[in-house]
Amino acid sequence: MILISAGDALSAKLIKEAGYDGVWVSGFEATARLGLPDNGSITLTEMLNIAKPIVDNVDIPVYVDVDTGYSNFRRTVKEFENIGVAGVCIEDVEPEYKRNSLWGDKVPLMDIDKFKRKLDIKRNIHVIARTEALIRGYGVEETEKRMGSYHFAGADYVFPHSRTKPMDLDLFPAHSKIVIAPTKFPDYTNKELKAMGYSMIIWANQTERVKIKAVRDMLHLLSKHDRMLEAEQHLCATLDDMRGLMPDE
Ligand code: SPV
Ligand code: MG
Repeated sequence: MILISAGDALSAKLIKEAGYDGVWVSGFEATARLGLPDNGSITLTEMLNIAKPIVDNVDIPVYVDVDTGYSNFRRTVKEFENIGVAGVCIEDVEPEYKRNSLWGDKVPLMDIDKFKRKLDIKRNIHVIARTEALIRGYGVEETEKRMGSYHFAGADYVFPHSRTKPMDLDLFPAHSKIVIAPTKFPDYTNKELKAMGYSMIIWANQTERVKIKAVRDMLHLLSKHDRMLEAEQHLCATLDDMRGLMPDE
């Protein structure tokens, strides 16, 4: 299953149109859009408000990044279940040290048993248990220990986040479902990652990053030509294209 990030219904519709399996609602993207750092500063309500129009507009599964679960993970799961998401992803860093993992400081991880207790809840949606052990420098052994523990504690997927290369899954039982977000190794194809044993691939921030470049390029063309024609010709979707992505009434 391949998820692509979307922070709004329009992007989610494009992902569905392109034939991808599902949508990732990223905390990194969401905080960037709100002008916040990706350090746990976004709230449950803000993420619900971002996810709901997406769920309402596409019939492919939507998975939401809920950082460290906010203060009450049981409630978080219930609220996302209520709006119809397919699953949520919770990470095992100590909440007060939550920072985007791609910058990768070594910060304390939550005690394994404490994190496992969080996973032990009745629910009708998937939980992705993400361990920060590898990306935070605690090594492969600690990562494998945590992946196994979270799997046996009932996580539907386990996610050993990495920013160097895909983790070798040889030791892992074939029945466990493993997630990868290959932001830092985009040279791997989805086919290669699947062959390595990953069952969920998340391209977690490219839809937002492509917008940054497109907006800059548009502004550059505007300032160069002092009119919008060149940007319209080379960069913009047509008004009809945009209108076609919106409901009539
Ligand atoms: C996100 O998209 O917010 C994630 C994935 O948590 S990462 O940014 O790689 O940590
Ligand atoms: Mg995140």
